[in-house]
Amino acid sequence: MTQTADQDHPATGLPAFPMARSCPFSPPEEYAKLRENEPVSRAALRVNGKPAWLVSTYEHVKKVLGDSRVSANLKLPGYPLQVPVPEEMLQAVPLTFLSMDQPEHTVQRRLLAPEFSLRQMRALRPRIQEIVDQQIDAMLAKGGPLDLVTALALPVPSLVICELLGVPYEDHPQFEIWAGQIMNHDISDEERGRAHYELDQYVDRLVTAKETEPGDDMISRLVAQNRAEPTVEHADIVSMARLMLVTGHETTANMIALGTLALLEHPDQLAAVKADPALLPRAVEELLRFFSISDSGTARVALEDIEIGGTTIRAGEGILPLNNSANHDESVFPDADTLDIHREARSHLAFGYGIHQCIGQNLARIELEIVYGTLFKRIPDLELAAQFSELRFKDDAIVYGIYELPVTW
Ligand code: HEM
Repeated sequence: MTQTADQDHPATGLPAFPMARSCPFSPPEEYAKLRENEPVSRAALRVNGKPAWLVSTYEHVKKVLGDSRVSANLKLPGYPLQVPVPEEMLQAVPLTFLSMDQPEHTVQRRLLAPEFSLRQMRALRPRIQEIVDQQIDAMLAKGGPLDLVTALALPVPSLVICELLGVPYEDHPQFEIWAGQIMNHDISDEERGRAHYELDQYVDRLVTAKETEPGDDMISRLVAQNRAEPTVEHADIVSMARLMLVTGHETTANMIALGTLALLEHPDQLAAVKADPALLPRAVEELLRFFSISDSGTARVALEDIEIGGTTIRAGEGILPLNNSANHDESVFPDADTLDIHREARSHLAFGYGIHQCIGQNLARIELEIVYGTLFKRIPDLELAAQFSELRFKDDAIVYGIYELPVTW
């Protein structure tokens, strides 16, 4: 968790961002005050003290994310980058389409979008079920107590991405090691850097292999389609494949662990889901809204002067539209701080909004439905194997999550 004592950034006197939470199940308390009193407000980034605009109401977050006068390009001066990256390194890395604006963004997104259609994702369902069952078989064979993050939450999305990309079966263990290291905040930056590098090299070799020996997988189809109608380069396909891993792994893993925890902590709602699995899709939407784990992962920078809720944001200024705050806006979600799996929450902004809205959202929903449904069906007496107060939550401003989730049965 972020520290609670130091609420203002010392050099600027502005409120420091990210803001502290007092309860792991609720957004920072400050958000409700911002929505009420100053829906577009100034803050200083904890990482470097730079100022940025916080946008906190549902209406205004949607407005910013739907505005073509804002850019997602993290290399632009003023972009509110929340990780410490040296400027020369930042300028040297190629952008993925997550950080591109139109029209470049559209070219790559269009190539990839058919791969994430509901039809494609539904076709993956049986394989995802198999992956989840295998992980739960291993949990049962090992016996509790164990850490649900390493036993289930991390491997499931990683193996699903392997399936999607067409990573050969024999490479899965190595792939999982790299993916795990990249998400591991307890190892050194150097070790994480090495895992990034080795994974990049691996994905590059994988794309090259698919260019000569295609299979029935996403990379092979992208290669074939691009050959028929060239729009991108080999390096772009590598970057797209790599982006899937970064964006689809830690997010889904954290939702698996946090969602399981929230259901364990709300036994009445867990009982309702167990009694009627048809409630699962609704429960998934509500858990996505409730946690909104990618709170400020939708950072932008203004390309022109824009007016949001009566405040003018000048060209070049950084903007943080806060999904978690938007999703706790009482005018849209009454009693928003209460988890209610019966509510209709699908209009939440946990997957963002506008041209960059999560391309993997259908996949994430299916993964979460299958994981929660199967876990509580196969291990109905699953319970927390630690005191709630002992759990360690990670709040690194981009993805909210949990380090470990000890469970037993
Ligand atoms: C619960 C899980 C997930 C959450 C909460 C989540 C959240 C988000 C959010 C908020 C954005 C918008 C970023 C922005 O506007 O700047 C986004 C974009 C994206 N997500 Fe997800 N995501 C999840 C799972 C996935 C999965 C499983 C994949 C793919 C395997 C994926 C791939 C992407 C990609 C490629 C983008 C960039 C889209 C674009 O720029 O057009 N995500 N995600």
